[in-house]
Amino acid sequence: MKSTLIINALASEKELEEIFIQGWVRTKRTSKDFSFIELNDGSCLTNIQVIVDNAVDGYDQMAKISTGAAIAVWGKLASSPGKGQKWEVAAKGFKIYGLADSNYPLQKKGHTMEFLREIAHLRPRSNLFGCMFRLRSKISDAIHRFFQDRNFVYVHTPIITASDCEGAGELFKVTTLEEMNKKVDYSEDFFGKPTYLTVSGQLEAELMALALGNVYTFGPTFRAENSNTSRHVSEFWMIEPEMAFYDLEDDMDLAEKFVKYLMQFVLNECKSDLDIFAKFVDKKLYDRLNLLLEKDFMRVPYTEAIEILQKSGKQFEYPVSYGVDLQTEHERYLTEEYAKCPMTVYNYPKEIKPFYMRLNDDNKTVAAMDMLVPGIGEIIGGSQREERLDLLVENLKRQDIQPKDYWWYVDSRRYGSVPHSGFGLGFERMLMYITGMANIRDVIPFPRTPKSVEF
Ligand code: 4AD
Ligand code: MG
Repeated sequence: MKSTLIINALASEKELEEIFIQGWVRTKRTSKDFSFIELNDGSCLTNIQVIVDNAVDGYDQMAKISTGAAIAVWGKLASSPGKGQKWEVAAKGFKIYGLADSNYPLQKKGHTMEFLREIAHLRPRSNLFGCMFRLRSKISDAIHRFFQDRNFVYVHTPIITASDCEGAGELFKVTTLEEMNKKVDYSEDFFGKPTYLTVSGQLEAELMALALGNVYTFGPTFRAENSNTSRHVSEFWMIEPEMAFYDLEDDMDLAEKFVKYLMQFVLNECKSDLDIFAKFVDKKLYDRLNLLLEKDFMRVPYTEAIEILQKSGKQFEYPVSYGVDLQTEHERYLTEEYAKCPMTVYNYPKEIKPFYMRLNDDNKTVAAMDMLVPGIGEIIGGSQREERLDLLVENLKRQDIQPKDYWWYVDSRRYGSVPHSGFGLGFERMLMYITGMANIRDVIPFPRTPKSVEF
């Protein structure tokens, strides 16, 4: 018989004489004449209740089944007398695929996040992480919808690259040479030159935007940043739209529209998975998301943000003066205490930003923007790009980068160069923001962090 997903069984409009479902046992209770099983197949948070009468064939096998076991059940989808559930399955037969013994770590509820992280191979079977990973999937779909509905072209940028987009030197090397620590001759290496895992698809996305107009990437990026914080992972997913003929203001407008679209999407279409976060993770989740939709995000030039921080009367660990890069503590003060809503800071000093950003007329700042949100800090980084050939070459030299190493990027400013802009949204940070999860390791199935790559 064809199998039915539990999400579809629960949505059935009528009783069904025959149904076949498969999944993992969440709980089993036994009374004199029956066993009651709560079965979950991952298609939704809700379990379906299965009642197995002791007259069912092979009932003696039922004793072996416990929490965590994988089984198939067939029988009648009947209306349930139980509270809060419309349907249950009156079993006519069942089959055991795999048993789980009493060492199964998810016997009871109420595990700490830290414990669940240590069993990342099993945590997708917990209610909270099931919701998290379904949400991750649905939001991925919404991201594509947002851009596809606006005629953006989804482009695939390479994961292996010879360039360092952000210039921060946080690169994982890719090599087939074995003697990593010796002085090596890279002409002997697989690609004939040093290569890395990409930190951003932006440079290639720019080339595509200069042909296709509006494009976006959505893929994995890698940073060998040795910071063990609750907001950094070494492998994360980034959404990077890049738009020809956009200036910085258009860029900030799109970023705000995009963030609000995702908020509205989860409120409209992910309620059942969101509820669990509102119950167990962030009691103010719905207030928080709704408030965001109502408000215009605040926009403040970097110089003014520095003044706000200096006037705050706060003792920051990293002292504030013009020219410093904003630290998480500064970002959080600005957005949580000062703005009490997301804040986009723009026009940063050129010295603290990468080579590709467009120099402003003041000759001191570049057309950069970072969107900061309460609870996290930076969630988006973007800019208008330097489209003027001479200024781009100057920037590269100022940052000790050989223009000839980026000749193809420089070339794009030689033929039909246009003003253009883009930004990168960290997907995991967005998920933290939506769900209220405090640690980035809990929004990605198998997090990679320094000294941690077990699963
Ligand atoms: O600000 P970043 O470094 O910007 C770029 O990479 C640009 N090339 C994007 C562009 O303009 N196309 O990174 C963008 C975002 C950050 O705001 C943050 O949300 C996320 O990526 N991010 C990380 N997320 C998790 N772990 C890390 N180690 C991250 N580093 C950056
Ligand atoms: Mg940034």
